[in-house]
Amino acid sequence: MCGIVGYVGTRDGVPIVLEGLQRLEYRGYDSAGIAVVGGGKGGLKLHKAKGRIRDLQSSLPKRLKGAPTIGHTRWATHGAPNDVNAHPHVDFSGRFAIVHNGIIENAPQIKERLAAEGIETTSETDTELVAHLIGLAAREHDDPMAAVRAALRRVEGAYGLAIVDAEHPDRVIVARLGSPIVLGLGDREMYVASDVGAIVRHTKQVVHLEDGEIAQLEPDGFTTQTLDARPVQKVSELVDLDAADYDLGGYEHFLRKEIGEQPEAVERCISGRIDERFSTVKLGGLNLEPHELRAIKRVHILGCGSAYYSGEVGAHLIESLARIPATAEAASEYRYRNPVIDPNGLYIAVSQSGETADTLAAVEELTRKGARVLGVINQVGSAIARSNNGGIYIHAGPEVSVASSKSFTSTCIAFAMLAVHLGRIRDLSPADGDRVITALRELPAKIAAILEQEDQIEEAAGWLAQFENAMFIGRVRGYPIAREGAQKIKEVAYLHAEAYQAAELKHGPLALICPEMPVVAVVADDELAEKQRSTLHEIKARQGPILAIAHETLPTELAERTIVVPRTEPELDPILMNIPLQLLAYHAARALGRDIDKPRNLAKSVTVE
Ligand code: G6P
Repeated sequence: MCGIVGYVGTRDGVPIVLEGLQRLEYRGYDSAGIAVVGGGKGGLKLHKAKGRIRDLQSSLPKRLKGAPTIGHTRWATHGAPNDVNAHPHVDFSGRFAIVHNGIIENAPQIKERLAAEGIETTSETDTELVAHLIGLAAREHDDPMAAVRAALRRVEGAYGLAIVDAEHPDRVIVARLGSPIVLGLGDREMYVASDVGAIVRHTKQVVHLEDGEIAQLEPDGFTTQTLDARPVQKVSELVDLDAADYDLGGYEHFLRKEIGEQPEAVERCISGRIDERFSTVKLGGLNLEPHELRAIKRVHILGCGSAYYSGEVGAHLIESLARIPATAEAASEYRYRNPVIDPNGLYIAVSQSGETADTLAAVEELTRKGARVLGVINQVGSAIARSNNGGIYIHAGPEVSVASSKSFTSTCIAFAMLAVHLGRIRDLSPADGDRVITALRELPAKIAAILEQEDQIEEAAGWLAQFENAMFIGRVRGYPIAREGAQKIKEVAYLHAEAYQAAELKHGPLALICPEMPVVAVVADDELAEKQRSTLHEIKARQGPILAIAHETLPTELAERTIVVPRTEPELDPILMNIPLQLLAYHAARALGRDIDKPRNLAKSVTVE
């Protein structure tokens, strides 16, 4: 969602900030803006535009140069996406410009207070109100840090903020409460961003602000304090990221690049975690003793979107390998049904970004009620990762495309490892532990083999793209994959797709089957293969065209097209069967000329409800 980039130093900050904003485009946005302090009072220069960064760039006035500079990509929440609502926002005195990620919850009260002071607002945003509060506080505080602190003490809600002050053209002030802010340390220059990906080209030496902290950045360094002015000593760290992770590297789209990165991502997820001696998996971050793990009577998995569906794959893995009842649920629903906390349950929050507001709120609700919550997370040190009791990092590397691909697969791998771990301290035999571990090790090569079939999948995608609707079906462990496949094709190809449990077709949706309703069927050659084949016969009898994702044993006459997937252990079949579905969505979207990495209306990290 919204993105923040800032720079203070001797260079022109405008190109640096614009380039950083481009790196954050993937998060989803609908307008953008930039502010520069030109020096002296009234030296603020602003430029904002609805649409893409390139629209902002092409209309940029020549005089807009210099530093400090702050920029923003906005994903509209309060007020429509237009030039007025775009950030930065300036206070009534014209002195402070601010950019903001998050939501101000007491906006109506702040507005009343401002009205009482005779301050009118020009935009529909909650951010503008914060700018005015800072302007008001500056009447009583000479030091801009003190003014920002005083203003923020009146603010309820979530924010990541970057502020420039026309009267102090040597600094940027930033603050964080619930929305990430990272400082980048350069050589006589400083950077700030809401996501390290925006600044990693310039520096890998970073400092993460914590909630309730505020910092002042000057070219030569920074100081950090709390909202009540207590100084905080921060230690910088070197981020283990490659700027190339945020480049297309010769690919046309990040989604295709990231689908192709899956063999290495899976390798990384498994690496160093296999314990051959005991036919199990070591997961150092769980922070739970074997006796605590044995006491778990039920596993509850929570996530949103693809994270939720990978949680469903995880629930099947845990139930079948560890024989612990396990379910997955949409975190967005969970938090609102006043859930009864299971005292013997283990709760697992799944999130690629570690920022999704619905998942974070579910975790906070659970922790508040005393539940034990683990995370399965990609983004190291993210809000969700920090707010739970431990967990598993999936190490998929940065995922730029809005539609999740490698993080889905690596999350499933993490669940497979957790299932083996939980299983081996219960009744999973060493032989079964070995069986799954060996299969996990072979997955990268098998994923690579599926990627080799791209031409065939692309042809199938071209065929699917002619239809307006599609049905995706699977059974038991194949059903979450059908859901994820349907989700992917909706997200990136804008093709209406519905996922159904194969056996449920005859209880209703079979009425839809006709030559215009293609069915994408996930049919592993497992204990349900015979039943699946009957379903395919029922569809064929009604002239429904079928694309099967199957093992080599599926009779070819059962489907118009079949993508054959290598065999693995049945528990892991869904992980491989999902790979062709990713390529299918990608190529259907490409055939239809969609904006693949930035689908309309979607954001990578949904940091608002
Ligand atoms: C958004 C994205 C989805 C993603 C979901 C959860 O809705 O568009 O692709 O699956 O958020 O994101 P998370 O970062 O929590 O995994």
